[in-house]
Amino acid sequence: MTNVLVVFATKHGSTQQVANTIVTALSRDDVTAQSRPAAQVPEPLRDWDLVILGGALYSGRWHRDAHRFLKRHRRELGTVPIAVFGMGPRTDDEAAWRHSRRQLDRALAKRAWLSPLAVTVFGGVDPPRRGDRVRRDLRDGDVIRRWAGSVLARVRGDRPPPEPA
Ligand SMILES: Cc1cc2nc3c(=O)[nH]c(=O)nc-3n(C[C@H](O)[C@H](O)[C@H](O)COP(=O)(O)O)c2cc1C
Repeated sequence: MTNVLVVFATKHGSTQQVANTIVTALSRDDVTAQSRPAAQVPEPLRDWDLVILGGALYSGRWHRDAHRFLKRHRRELGTVPIAVFGMGPRTDDEAAWRHSRRQLDRALAKRAWLSPLAVTVFGGVDPPRRGDRVRRDLRDGDVIRRWAGSVLARVRGDRPPPEPA
């Protein structure tokens, strides 16, 4: 059995939804996955085989609960594999994606001791708005599921799926 903890730091809920997408994608007979708010993981992480930590970016900063989670669990994260994601650009152009990725990299650079298995940025969602104005949503479920699957495969030492012919 492989136990996966998906931890999220959110303000308006879209990061939590991504965490839940990952939980659903990874759950199967020999994998248990659950998601938890970053501020509500007080206990040690040693029972987990993989931790996935996601946090929203706001005004260039990664959500403070994600930072606090890393600080709180620093010692255990020397032995428990971790993968990290940030959220996220709301305009689909190269510069916006690069910008968000730089912000996440800068946040992680503060934790020089951390060596994540994988780091990525997923598209973001506009916060709730008054009335029924359309909210931009750059999340891509397939991309999220594929990333989560590849992280899990690395931890389990699975062979990568065959290249399409
Ligand atoms: C006021 C505001 C500032 C934001 N600043 C950034 C930013 O600096 N970088 C970024 O990548 N996304 C930024 N975003 C986009 C959020 O990361 C995106 O809306 C994300 O989906 C929010 O996650 P949450 O719903 O879990 O809180 C910002 C959004 C808002 C509303």
